[in-house]
Amino acid sequence: MAEENITISKGLEGIYIADTTLCKIDGQNGKLWYRGYPIETLAEKSTYEEVAFLLLYGHLPTRKELDTFTQKLISEREVPDAIENIIADFSGRMHPNDILRTCVSALPSFDTDMADKSSDANLERAIKLTAKMPTIVAMIGRYKQGKPVLQPSAKLSHSANFLYMLTGKEPDKESSKLIDLMFILHAEHGSNASTFSTLVTGSTLADVYAAVVAGISTLRGPLHGGADEAALNMMKAIGEPDNTETYIEDALAGKQRIMGFGHRVYKAYDPRAKIVYNYLKSFMQKTTDPKIEKLLEIAIRAEKLMEEKLSKTKGIWPNIDFFAGPLYTAMEIPSDLFTPVFAASRVVGWTAHLFEYWQNNRLFRPLDHYVGQLDLKYVPIDQR
Ligand code: ACO
Repeated sequence: MAEENITISKGLEGIYIADTTLCKIDGQNGKLWYRGYPIETLAEKSTYEEVAFLLLYGHLPTRKELDTFTQKLISEREVPDAIENIIADFSGRMHPNDILRTCVSALPSFDTDMADKSSDANLERAIKLTAKMPTIVAMIGRYKQGKPVLQPSAKLSHSANFLYMLTGKEPDKESSKLIDLMFILHAEHGSNASTFSTLVTGSTLADVYAAVVAGISTLRGPLHGGADEAALNMMKAIGEPDNTETYIEDALAGKQRIMGFGHRVYKAYDPRAKIVYNYLKSFMQKTTDPKIEKLLEIAIRAEKLMEEKLSKTKGIWPNIDFFAGPLYTAMEIPSDLFTPVFAASRVVGWTAHLFEYWQNNRLFRPLDHYVGQLDLKYVPIDQR
């Protein structure tokens, strides 16, 4: 292509990278499907285990398939002592997402045959990662709080076990549903930044662990998965519900971004955020904890103000990360674990995309448009 005809698509906006049957996002109408199933249906009727199976295998499981898959996840929940040692060494010095990334980097040392790159071996790795990442995140949380690590409980579901291993309390029915809902809603979301970086790494034929490490790293930033922690920090900075409007108006006047709002693809209400918002409103009527009540009220008032200020005029609506913070806080999940929890759920989306891409792999190698000078005269260092 002639250099003068180059179009630069900043942030790869509007660029399609592959065909997929995993996820469809209708950004104009605020709709989302995993493998053709509307997210609202999966949120109401399904479980994380079933959704993980759906994403990895391409169809909803039969009862027998689900039982086998669930048992496999349960049997893989434990992590080697060396992983706990990494957590113990780094927990005071690194953000939990960075510790999670480091632990996943170390997992290949426990893979008995890294040379086996067959589809079966890779699927096995994806299942192991899905099973172990919540355990790692819960362990990081326990170390950060100076509490002893707990063994996984085989009688609890995937997400309820995570909450148990983090808090030391078996979640009640409502908390179990809520954490499972959050795992389902975070499991997959098309070619977002972290999935894309998983694919970029995978497209070099690097291994599953390397690709997932890339995903975890990319998720960390506040423009992507780190937005949930940043949004809660903002709510904490607002402090009192009556400060909400002034805080947001001042932030917007100072050209600051309100974390948890806006999306590259959704120009309507993020359907995941809508589901979480509905839970949040019913939760608000039940909670008696004044700290949680305040956070919920701040979130709801901020949403209302943003709708008037930006949503309807500029298409900047709440995304899933905005409402996650108050709910996670109510479930006693510390804010610096929000992004690692997201990663522990999204790992099925990352790996499912990776396997789909590998079926027709091509190295990602985009171009950049050189705008510097050429053929400069080299001046020896002592003459510059
Ligand atoms: N608050 C205020 N203004 C915003 C926000 C926001 N949250 N998001 C976008 N805008 C404004 C920008 O300032 C810009 O305004 P301008 O045209 O007057 O300069 C316009 O909207 C377009 O912004 P871009 O950054 O070009 O839009 P892009 O599609 O690249 O951004 C993004 C998407 C990064 C998510 C952005 O909306 C944002 O920064 N949001 C806050 C962070 C966040 O919540 N991220 C989580 C996304 S969901 C997820 O990853 C799980």
